[in-house]
Amino acid sequence: MSKKYIISSEVEELDWEELLQEDQELMVQAQEISKNAYAPYSDFQVGAAVRLKSGLILQSSNQENVSFPVGVCAERLVLGYAGANYPLDPVMKIAIVAKRKGEDSWASVSPCGMCRQAINETELRFNKLMEILILKADHKILKVQGIQALLPFKFDDLNS
Ligand code: THU
Repeated sequence: MSKKYIISSEVEELDWEELLQEDQELMVQAQEISKNAYAPYSDFQVGAAVRLKSGLILQSSNQENVSFPVGVCAERLVLGYAGANYPLDPVMKIAIVAKRKGEDSWASVSPCGMCRQAINETELRFNKLMEILILKADHKILKVQGIQALLPFKFDDLNS
């Protein structure tokens, strides 16, 4: 008997002023680090900042490669660094922003599938949902609680 799943996600859209001050700070850190993007092939400069449970903020930008698949997104770089250096400090939040080289205004961005899976792994690792904050070109911020909202039917159990 065929079955149909209707999947819905809760995504909040906020103005900058509606963000918690600590989330504004995380966004600003992501914006700052996007300046360090190495993106000579796409000219798409991404910044990602995470807040750990201890309060520590870590940042990364995307780093590309002439062999395109070797390039790494900002999100996976910062999550990898967090896991490698602060393995006991859960990642609570991630802010993601992007800008096209040479433009003044921010571009809309959305984490790629691989990064969504990487966020999922971090949630599994620490048994904590991550709050995901994404800046849009209209300067509104999308906020979701946990990767499930962005990655339905995610792969998260080898044994199920
Ligand atoms: N990119 C990121 O770093 N994060 C995203 O969320 C979207 C895409 C990078 C990958 C590549 O260096 C460039 O942006 C264009 O896709």
